[in-house]
Order: sequence, then structure tokens, then C-alpha cells
Amino acid sequence: MLPPCVRVVGSFDELLTTRFENNINALCWPRSLQGNFTAVVAQLDWPKGITPLNEDKLANLPVGEAGRVAIQEMLADLQQLRAAGLEPSLDGIQGYLHAREEDYVRTDVCSFHADSATAEADTWLCTYHGDCSLGLPNDQAVVRPQHPAARAYLLEKFGGRDDENFAEWLNDHFHDLHYHPLPAAQPYPFGVGHLWRIATQYPGSPVLPCIHRAPDPGLGPPRLLLIS
Ligand SMILES: [Fe+2]
Repeated sequence: MLPPCVRVVGSFDELLTTRFENNINALCWPRSLQGNFTAVVAQLDWPKGITPLNEDKLANLPVGEAGRVAIQEMLADLQQLRAAGLEPSLDGIQGYLHAREEDYVRTDVCSFHADSATAEADTWLCTYHGDCSLGLPNDQAVVRPQHPAARAYLLEKFGGRDDENFAEWLNDHFHDLHYHPLPAAQPYPFGVGHLWRIATQYPGSPVLPCIHRAPDPGLGPPRLLLIS
């Protein structure tokens, strides 16, 4: 069950051309892809961390028919996004290398956050394999500097007064792009295979940014992720 901030669309063109408005800040094109992405992952030998996938190498992987379909589906997404003027990439994610920090401090992709840009821009996402990203409705979240316990914790780390220098420090360290779920919050899953376009924070945006996070790197399977 998706929250009211998400609109489901029926095609790539609709995903590309639908405007964010009326509090809708995430668009999802649900798909059930036919390829065997596990077969692709099995042929890739990634180091720990994030590895950009080389398309030539991907196209020449020795996989069976179902794996070949998976590769073609990913390459087709890349082509479609490039044709729309975007710069997508495919990443293989075998855990993350950042150290796990305390929730009030962490500013990595596994902490709920908004992407930001200086001009109009969106983020595109698709998880082909592994755990999916999560979204958090804006009315179920509090931005970190307005979370009392987080603010107190960070003020102590800052080691100064709660003044404009502290506000600048919060901004410099990206804390004002990170959010904490309210107690009854229900994050929604982006799912596997679905293509998403989500709103970023930029001056003049007609909607609030879509709050989202990557899944925690655990013992789960490697992720195959498209991002733009
Ligand atoms: Fe992000």
C-alpha cells in the first residue's frame, strides 16, 4: 500500500513527463521484469562497497538466456534514460564501506535523507536485485535539526552555542538533509524492478523532497541498482 505522496504511472513516458504537484513527490512505474538478475549477480565478482558496472563487460557476461534477458532489461533502461537527456549509471553494491554511526550523526545513504540540487533535478532509481530502497512520507518525518534529541546531541558535538554558526555547521555537514521517522511512521518500500522518479530539494521546487534511504547493508544479497 503506497502513501498519498506516491503516484503510480503506466509507462516510461508518463514517468518522465508527469509533474510533481499536489504533494506528490514520488512517481513509480511498476514493472515485473522477466530476466534472471540472480544469474547476472552470480557472474560478477565485486569487491566490498559500490562498483560501477561496465556496460561492455555486462553485455559479454557468460550467462544463460534468462540472465541475458536481465542484462538487456538493464541496458534498455540506461538507453531510455540517456535518450531523455539523463546520465544514469548501474552500480553493484556489496555492502557499504562507511562506518556505522549513531543515528543522530550519520549522513550516509542508509539514513533517511533528501537528495538536493542547485537547480531543478530529479533522482531516478531502480533496484534490480537485492534489498530495495525505502521512502518515508514527509508528514511522518522530522528533519534532523528540528528533532530535539538529535539537535541536543549535535550541539554537543559542535561544541558551541545554538546560534547561526551552529546552523551553518548543520548545513555544512548535511544534517539538514537528513530526517528521522516519527514514532508511528511507516516507511514504504520501492520494491524490486520498479522504476522510480523522486523529487529532490532545490530552490523553487513545487513539492517537498522525497525522503528516502538505501537498505542497511547486512548479510543480504548484493544489490544491482540503477541511479540517475
Ligand atoms: Fe538519495
